[in-house]
Amino acid sequence: MTFVSDAKLVELAAEYHTPLYIFDEKTIRQRCNDLKQAISYKNHHIRYACKALTLQRVLKIVRDEGLWIDASSINEVDRCLLAGFDPSQIFYTGEGATKSVYSYLIEIGVLINCTSIDQMRLIGSIKKNHYCSIRVNPGEGHGHSNKTNTGGPSSKHGIYYDQLEDAKVIAKELGIKIIGVHSHIGSGADLGHWLRIKDKTLEYANSFADLEFINLGGGIPVVYNPETDKPMPLNEWGAALSASMEQYSKEMGRSIALYIEPGRYVAAESGILLGEVGAVKSTPEYNYAIVNTGMNHNPRPAMYGSYHPIRFIPRDGRSPGKEKEYVIGGYLCESGDVFTVESDGTLAPRKFPEIKVGDIMVMGHIGAYSHSMKNEYNSMNLPASLLIDKNGVASLIERRGTLIDVMRREIEVIPHKSRKHYKD
Ligand SMILES: Cc1ncc(COP(=O)(O)O)c(C=O)c1O
Repeated sequence: MTFVSDAKLVELAAEYHTPLYIFDEKTIRQRCNDLKQAISYKNHHIRYACKALTLQRVLKIVRDEGLWIDASSINEVDRCLLAGFDPSQIFYTGEGATKSVYSYLIEIGVLINCTSIDQMRLIGSIKKNHYCSIRVNPGEGHGHSNKTNTGGPSSKHGIYYDQLEDAKVIAKELGIKIIGVHSHIGSGADLGHWLRIKDKTLEYANSFADLEFINLGGGIPVVYNPETDKPMPLNEWGAALSASMEQYSKEMGRSIALYIEPGRYVAAESGILLGEVGAVKSTPEYNYAIVNTGMNHNPRPAMYGSYHPIRFIPRDGRSPGKEKEYVIGGYLCESGDVFTVESDGTLAPRKFPEIKVGDIMVMGHIGAYSHSMKNEYNSMNLPASLLIDKNGVASLIERRGTLIDVMRREIEVIPHKSRKHYKD
């Protein structure tokens, strides 16, 4: 939240209008470097899970840092190719991919991670004697919320570990080489879970004769709320992974590569969302400050009950007033459109110095799964995105949405040209 001064934020809000996303290049590079430094095992690749934040400029920064890619749709793949990645640097994991998706991936040489035995059959139907990785559900999961937990007996993700022998039989029948074993148990998994899943994945993988790599997925947590969240001890994590892989390669008699796929860790802290207070009001139970953004620009609080740091910059330059408790509400016609909630969705007022109409809201840590999950509900325009480059210079990397954008796929409508699109 500190990569731009308050004075500059007020200036940027005036120049580009609110709501506004602002991303910071230095933070992205720093997080990439944290990861590179933590892993000493040479034969590894860090694959940025680009679903976290998929803007071209961000992909180019990540590429410049030497990271590879984890993608989950054809469009993500194509956006990465556009940013200069080679198909051989892209790893594809998607539930329910169709034959046309797999045909394209095979044609251009993207490595596929099958999340079901049926997907292996799909590969077999497209190309004989091909290769793939398989995603294993190790029987347990972990994440910052139940909705981000992607392992365990109730999860749709991956091939359940007790069906790996079936996967081997099918692979043999189809002549498919299983060259990698992948596991991703959730977004926001702690060190204990990471290490246990690492051990399980290594154990599952050691009976695969063609094994070339292990992929331990993403899920490195980020501290959103300093009072409740624990940071990942990255050096301890990297040292444990490196030591295990050294030992594993020794036991296997060849060097097995290690992949990891962090998304949140790379992007989350690089972004802020600016909004503007449009109304301050109260009910018998709560004081509300309503801002001109909402769950359409950061769905995480409404979807997961996620915490984001929030503060306000007084627009009139006054010094901070007496603290009061406020619920921060978005501008959408939706009762769940609230930014200050508990993990179970109940309202969670926070203390702020007195908030007034026109004040600027600064919401932090929105770099991951906010911009990439945005939508145009209520026909609201999408915010512009700025990048603060490594020299501290702000530039527009994505223009503000317009009514024409909102209606861009409707065949029968000619948009009204005279409207000023930023007035929402
Ligand atoms: C297969 C896979 N890998 C990696 C990630 C990235 O997770 P995170 O952003 O928590 O690092 C995800 C996120 O959902 C995922 O589904």
